[in-house]
Amino acid sequence: MNQQPLPDAIPALFPNPSDRARIGSWLSLQLEEALQRIQAGPVAPSGDVQKFRIELERFDFNTPQPLQDALRWTIERMEHGIVQMANPRYFGLFNPGANFPAQCADRIAAVFNPQLASSASSPLPVALESHVIRAVARRAGMDDTATGHFATGGSEANFTALLCALTGACANFSTAGARAFAGPVKFYTSRDCHIAWLKIAHQAGVGRAALHLVGTDGAGRMDPQALLRAMAEDRAAGAVPVMVVATAGTTGGGMIDPLHACADAARQHGLWFHVDAAWGGAALASNRLRGLLDGIERADSITIDAHKWLATTMGCALFLTTHGPLLSEAFHASTSFMPSSLSGVDPYLNTVQWSRRFLGLRLFLALAAAGWEGLGAHVERGVAVIERIRQSLLDHGWSIANDSPLAVLAAVPPAELGDVRALVRRVVASGRAWVAPTTFEGRDVVRICATNGETTMADVSALIAALTERP
Ligand SMILES: Cc1ncc(COP(=O)(O)O)c(C=O)c1O
Repeated sequence: MNQQPLPDAIPALFPNPSDRARIGSWLSLQLEEALQRIQAGPVAPSGDVQKFRIELERFDFNTPQPLQDALRWTIERMEHGIVQMANPRYFGLFNPGANFPAQCADRIAAVFNPQLASSASSPLPVALESHVIRAVARRAGMDDTATGHFATGGSEANFTALLCALTGACANFSTAGARAFAGPVKFYTSRDCHIAWLKIAHQAGVGRAALHLVGTDGAGRMDPQALLRAMAEDRAAGAVPVMVVATAGTTGGGMIDPLHACADAARQHGLWFHVDAAWGGAALASNRLRGLLDGIERADSITIDAHKWLATTMGCALFLTTHGPLLSEAFHASTSFMPSSLSGVDPYLNTVQWSRRFLGLRLFLALAAAGWEGLGAHVERGVAVIERIRQSLLDHGWSIANDSPLAVLAAVPPAELGDVRALVRRVVASGRAWVAPTTFEGRDVVRICATNGETTMADVSALIAALTERP
């Protein structure tokens, strides 16, 4: 064998230990300082994308530059190039300022870079993730058979639910796909659902027409009578209903569909019952609020996004189900190159993904550091923030269109403040706060959501000032 030494490892990619430690400490400091500036600065991006594209041309990747220069440049551009979720005046979509334990989890995962496809590659992380899954399932009131996994987001978890429902509804689905069914497949959720369900129907191969959007009750909740009618009509027309999806915390208005009535309707027709609690599922953490989700325990499967109200870093959802064997059937595979092949244990045999990042560590460390009590207090704090905003807006002549017990308002400005979309554009452009326009039960509303865990009364006042300023 040739005993000549191999070329050195590439130092720009694999610096020596002392450089690594030095740059790592420097980076931590830079990030902390940037975070403090972000929290005090404008919420909306101020960077010019055209200029940025020109600047990017400098990176032709022929002339390497020192890593620290590239890091400094990246942090600066991040400070001006995104809507700042870490800013406590971000009252926007369900994107959190990430909690610190979850940030630590990402650092740990980045260094060890464990492969969570297989229990042989990562025996302890796989056990840790299923411990967290069981703890959350218990909290939701599911029985001891409950299992599941971490997914990249609510959309993946919801996709998993549809695949389980299809697999359970027809023995031949896994082989023949949608044509195994005697007629066109249908599944049901309210017209206020998260509209990724359309993409999910497309991905699953049953077609977007499989999604039957059921009417609401005038207050943003699925109408159970309309649901029953829809199922009966579809069956009479030769379609094959497979799943009812109740949303626990709608995206626009934070409304909770009537979970028991939806579960009854699903049972009556022998269908899979899924609860999409992507955002609202966080209420399970609070002893005071968890009763709002009464009926969730009857679900065949549940989606909860830890990266929404539980404030982990992005890409951390939970899929929970009481049908472990069906989950394994939906994702079974067989190959000789994987180091283990344990159905019901190995994540690659139970999930959409194959190679998997250590997602569950984010929620594990948040729970380990704060406990249910701490996470529950974080969720209750969001509700308290929204309560203050509600009161203040009512005092300023606004009305509130949604009657959600969760931390989101669908707020209607008085006529003198003008059109909702123009008002939201003004507020966002001012950089003082960030809110979104949406429609709720057919009306244009300003959607205001408490999603940052560090919002103070001063931030609430800044939001109210920005919202109530006349054009
Ligand atoms: C109710 C609901 N379901 C699903 C999703 C999709 O989740 P994700 O963005 O994590 O894929 C969202 C996102 O806001 C949601 O509000």
